[in-house]
Amino acid sequence: MIAYHRTALAQQLVQALQGKTLLGDAHNGLFLAAPRRTGKSTFLQGDLAPALQKADVEVVYVDLWADTRRDPGALIAEAIAQALQGHLGLVARTARKAGVKSVKVAGALDIDISQIGQVDGLTLVDALRSLHLAAGRPVALIIDEAQHALTSEAGEVAMTALKSARDQMNQPGRVNLMLVMSGSDRDKLLRLVVSAGAPFYGSQIQTLPPLDTDFIAHVATLVEAQRPDLVPVDRAALQEAFTAFGHRPQFFMAAMGAVLSPLSGHKGRFEPALQQAAQDQQSQDEAQMESDFLGLKPIEQVVLWRMLDQGSRFRPYDAEALRFYRDKLGSPISVQQAQKSLESLRQRTPALVWKSARGEYAGEDAAMHRWFEVRREAGAWPPGSAQGNLAMGEE
Ligand SMILES: Nc1ncnc2c1ncn2[C@@H]1O[C@H](COP(=O)(O)OP(=O)(O)OP(=O)(O)O)[C@@H](O)[C@H]1O
Ligand SMILES: [Mg+2]
Repeated sequence: MIAYHRTALAQQLVQALQGKTLLGDAHNGLFLAAPRRTGKSTFLQGDLAPALQKADVEVVYVDLWADTRRDPGALIAEAIAQALQGHLGLVARTARKAGVKSVKVAGALDIDISQIGQVDGLTLVDALRSLHLAAGRPVALIIDEAQHALTSEAGEVAMTALKSARDQMNQPGRVNLMLVMSGSDRDKLLRLVVSAGAPFYGSQIQTLPPLDTDFIAHVATLVEAQRPDLVPVDRAALQEAFTAFGHRPQFFMAAMGAVLSPLSGHKGRFEPALQQAAQDQQSQDEAQMESDFLGLKPIEQVVLWRMLDQGSRFRPYDAEALRFYRDKLGSPISVQQAQKSLESLRQRTPALVWKSARGEYAGEDAAMHRWFEVRREAGAWPPGSAQGNLAMGEE
């Protein structure tokens, strides 16, 4: 496996987070979106975190998908507590053994040791301030899959607490708390920033650029070094294949491995075989979504259809939605039936529908929205049956 580092990009983001760039708003929070499997987590952990550490910043990384059964607020608190404990170290450990309940951090803040990591006890704001004092340097909190916080009330509370911590700890010219949030779905991340009631109202969502030409050049050089017989590698063909793989390095590298393997039985240039593999993957992805869709009950299909069609305007139970369901199905359905369908779309594995704590719905995977748009533009929606043929009778 190869690791390609995006050092320059990480460096720019560090500057922005520190508020050192003339323009931009990253010191108020950096929100990064990019499609699934395009290298977000790898970049955050492998490039951005080390770059921040080098700039003398204390980094806390937490992935809200690490355990989706756990509350996002608790996961965040725990990650901060762990970092804090690392700094309190000896003091706290001996204090606990000696039965002492609280310790002073940097001679100032009193911390109740038994409360660290408990959201209601030591609040997130206090925990972050303690960490800042104990570490003696600015703190960066990197939250991966941040949109997941919006699926529970406790998660929403945690986000609001982080906003408040940011406002308390940062002053113009002095950034003590840097917040980085990433997710695979721009529309969901938007809910953190877009409405006046959103915790990070006023911030913008940035797109984490996909791996690109430099990554391809890097891979091509590696191939040429290992296989002199293949020099020169056709970089444009590699680039094309990588784009067809949706800029997802994992699939691309696996296909490279397969076509370059001595076991592939493949003769001559490998590039056409790679491009073929990319096309196969694309059709396979689409076939998977199609079969997922066709595997649903007719009533689930129309509810999902309405959701994909309406995007953020989706209201599952309003009169218009109910009319839509009836038109497509050929018979009316009740609010309860629509509710039940949405619930089962959420409960499937993999889930097809995402729900926020405020009762907003969206597709679980943004790829499904793209698939829908493309098919609709091509006049190929709904899949499988011709439009109007959806009411198949069986339940
Ligand atoms: N810079 C890179 N160099 C080489 N391989 C990479 C790089 N970035 C990502 N990958 C590979 O791509 C795959 C996906 O990466 P990663 O998990 O970082 O993506 P992600 O966007 O966080 O995915 P998800 O949406 O599932 O969270 C991994 O197998 C990883 O090894
Ligand atoms: Mg990830």
